Amino acid sequence: MADINGKKLAAERAVDYIQQDMIIGLGTGSTAYWAIQKIGTKVKEGLRIKAIATSRESEKLATDLQIPLTSFAENNILDLTIDGADEVDKNFNLIKGGGGALLREKIVAAASTRFIVVVDESKIVEQLGKFPLPVEVVPFAFERTIQTIRSLGCIPRIRLAENKFYLTDNGNYIIDCEFEDIAHPDALHTRLNLIPGVVDNGLFVNMANIVVIGNLNGTVEVRTR
Ligand code: 5RP
Repeated sequence: MADINGKKLAAERAVDYIQQDMIIGLGTGSTAYWAIQKIGTKVKEGLRIKAIATSRESEKLATDLQIPLTSFAENNILDLTIDGADEVDKNFNLIKGGGGALLREKIVAAASTRFIVVVDESKIVEQLGKFPLPVEVVPFAFERTIQTIRSLGCIPRIRLAENKFYLTDNGNYIIDCEFEDIAHPDALHTRLNLIPGVVDNGLFVNMANIVVIGNLNGTVEVRTR
């Protein structure tokens, strides 16, 4: 029997929510990848949609698949966004940004009427925090920003790529913060974003409407808020 891919199962199920003439947000990462592939197939079969991507990587994939793209200059509201997550708790709160796209992902999700999160079962947790929380900071004074983030009770590490500081699509750095347990995501979200130099963080609180979970046994669970 072929290996079951929970990410693919979840992502493809979420694409069923897309209807003709919708404006769609395209997520980033290895789960969103499958949603974008499926959307590309449906577009070839006649689905009429326009999309806004949450990263340059997803934008390139959409372009390669001939998915029509639009922008916030033309469309302020999206009907539906499909994106992955690094952790999902029972209250639909998320950690995102493992792929470094958290800022654009949050802007796009916030502009969407419906935000569908697609994950395999490994991403479902009792409490957020085992996955280091990504925080996007501006390069200016990042050393000081990191110290202030540390004072919130985490071990912060600047993300590296090929021995250099990883740069987001927005030209910023990512600080991966080990909190272990995040008991109050909403409060932490606010405290982090109040630190000068922090652009945004990977906590998505009260944003997801639907979570689609692909299980290793081949089933798909849909949780709706
Ligand atoms: C990118 C993200 C991704 O959605 C998240 O990291 C999950 O990635 P994957 O689907 O590859 O497991 O937030 O910034």
